[in-house]
Amino acid sequence: MKATLSEFDEMPTTARIIELQQQIQSLQQQLLQAQKMSSVGALASSITHEFNNILMTVINYAKMGVRHKDAATRDKAFDKILAAGHRASKITTGMLSYAKQQGDRRDSMDLVPLVEDVLVLVEKDLQRYRIRLTTQFEAHPFAAVNSGQVQQVLLNLIINARQAMEQGGNLVVAVRANSELGQAEISIRDSGCGIPPEKLRRIFEPFFTTKTADEQGQGGTGLGLSLARDVMEAHGGRIRVESAVGAGTTFTLKFPLVPAAVRPATVHKMG
Ligand SMILES: Nc1ncnc2c1ncn2[C@@H]1O[C@H](COP(=O)(O)OP(=O)(O)OP(=O)(O)O)[C@@H](O)[C@H]1O
Ligand SMILES: [Mg+2]
Repeated sequence: MKATLSEFDEMPTTARIIELQQQIQSLQQQLLQAQKMSSVGALASSITHEFNNILMTVINYAKMGVRHKDAATRDKAFDKILAAGHRASKITTGMLSYAKQQGDRRDSMDLVPLVEDVLVLVEKDLQRYRIRLTTQFEAHPFAAVNSGQVQQVLLNLIINARQAMEQGGNLVVAVRANSELGQAEISIRDSGCGIPPEKLRRIFEPFFTTKTADEQGQGGTGLGLSLARDVMEAHGGRIRVESAVGAGTTFTLKFPLVPAAVRPATVHKMG
């Protein structure tokens, strides 16, 4: 450690600052990646259960098809197996697109499919906690985004919302365009416990948390919202929150809207 410090002492100040800035950047990337894996961990048990259910469906309908030789029963069995296979493939595609490391690359894309890919991952988890999910896709706005990072932000907001609704509740995920302000918006509204004003001021601070880690050691680092704010700033956007104790909380992500004229000719589908 001492050697490193004296090495630094001999460097010209600007070179030293650049080196430290690079170190900070690399640590921030690592933190983002670690947090991403931690949010996958929060969903692992629900996703594993869902896969098990899909496999049971496939096995049972395959058995039915083997036993019954008539065309109608076999057709039904094949239809069910096909549907189960599609569902499983949607989930794995969602996971792969989420886990993909894209560095700092941004692509102009429709925000609706990006949101849908995240919802595939959380659907089962929400059901398990008796949370009713409603989507309101009022428009298909385009924004220049790093899809993995934005999905990470969305996953964090949804997990926060679920944790705020211990007795179940409603989650509304909306996508809209505000052409006057030139903004594309994604909002996540929950009917959870809400955040009192003295805490609301602090929720974006790194390590601010009101939670303790669960049995699997998940949650409670207090980094979710601080990283969400960093990601939104890097996108030239912002994150806003409105909350009422006992009524619920709404987080809104605002991105600079990519005007129709400069959008790519083909709709960018994730995965
Ligand atoms: N939807 C919400 N409803 C109520 N409180 C919330 C909501 N979202 C965030 N909070 C409050 O903000 C705090 C900070 O959230 P943040 O996501 O940064 O960290 P965390 O969820 O506590 O920990 P981690 O994300 O590491 O699991 C939470 O502890 C909680 O008190
Ligand atoms: Mg959180």
